[in-house]
Amino acid sequence: MGVLRRPAGPASAARRGAERAQLAQAAGLLCGRGDRTGVVDRRLAAGVQSRVWRIVTSGPDGRSDHVVKWFRAGYRAGNSVAAEFAALVALDRAVADLRPAAYRVRCPRPVRAWDWGYAMSTVSGCRLDLALARRLLPAEDERLLADDLVAALSAFHAVHRGPYGDFHAGNVLLGADREVYLIDPGPANPGFFNWPGPVSPPPLAVDLAYWTFAAAATAHRRPRAAGHALRLAGALRDAATELMSDPGLAAEVDRCLADYWKRLASQGLRQRAVAVAATRLARLRWDG
Ligand SMILES: Nc1ncnc2c1ncn2[C@@H]1O[C@H](COP(=O)(O)OP(=O)(O)OP(=O)(O)O)[C@@H](O)[C@H]1O
Ligand SMILES: [Mg+2]
Repeated sequence: MGVLRRPAGPASAARRGAERAQLAQAAGLLCGRGDRTGVVDRRLAAGVQSRVWRIVTSGPDGRSDHVVKWFRAGYRAGNSVAAEFAALVALDRAVADLRPAAYRVRCPRPVRAWDWGYAMSTVSGCRLDLALARRLLPAEDERLLADDLVAALSAFHAVHRGPYGDFHAGNVLLGADREVYLIDPGPANPGFFNWPGPVSPPPLAVDLAYWTFAAAATAHRRPRAAGHALRLAGALRDAATELMSDPGLAAEVDRCLADYWKRLASQGLRQRAVAVAATRLARLRWDG
C-alpha cells in the first residue's frame, strides 16, 4: 500500500520556484564568460537550515564545478548568510598560512555571496566520523590528525576572533593523499555560543566541547560513527593542551560541555533525555 503524500501547498511551490530561480541566477553568474553555460547539476545535501547544490559550468575551455549553499528564508534573518560566508573567508585565510604538517588542512575556497546563499569551490572527501568507523585512518595517525586540526582551528580563531561554532566530525572531510577539508564554519545558531558571565571561555574550549556535544547528542542515530568521534575528542583535547601549553584547558572544555548539556536539557523533555544519555556516553571511553 502506497503512502499518500500531502500535496505541496502554494507557499512551498513558490519557495521552490524562488530557490530554482536563485540557483539558475548563480549558475549564470558562475560561468564568468559569455561562451560558457552553467547548469544546476544535483543536490548534495539538505539540512534544516540550508540545501547544498552542485553547479557545473562548461565551455570551450573545459568544465568546472562549484558548490552553492542555499539558505532557507527563516535562516536568512540576522545576517546569517553573510556571517557564514565571512567565516569561510577567514578560514580560507587561516589555512593558507598553516605550516607544512602531516595532514594538509584545507577548506572550500569562497567564491561569491548573495543574500540567499553563497558559492564555493568543490572539495571531496569522506566525513571524518564515517572515515574513522570505516578504518580509513590508521590508528597511529589519529593523534597526528588531531594536532593538525587543532593547529588549523587555532589559526582560524586568530583570524576570525570567535569560535568555529559548528566544529564536529561531520564538518571535517578526509580526502585523498592526507588532505583534510574543514567545511561549514560559523555558528548555525550564534545564540548557542553566548556565555553567561563576563568571561567567555577560550574559543578552543568552546569548539572542542562542541565536538563532544555533537557526537554524543547524535549517538542514538549513528552510534558507531559517534563513538569514533568521541574517541578522537580525547586526542583533540590532548593536542590542544599541548599546543596552548595550558593544563587548565581540559577543565575549560568540561565547563563548556556542562553548559551545553544544561542548555539542551532546558529545551524540553525529549532533549533532556538525550542530554542525560549523551552525558553518560561522553564519559565512556570508546575502543570499538
Ligand atoms: N564545498 C563543498 N564541496 C563538496 N561537498 C560539499 C561542500 N560543501 C558542502 N558539501 C556537502 O554538503 C554537505 C552539507 O554541507 P554543510 O555542512 O555546509 O551543510 P549543513 O551541515 O547541512 O549546514 P547547516 O549545518 O548550516 O544546516 C556536506 O556534508 C558535504 O557532503
Ligand atoms: Mg555541516
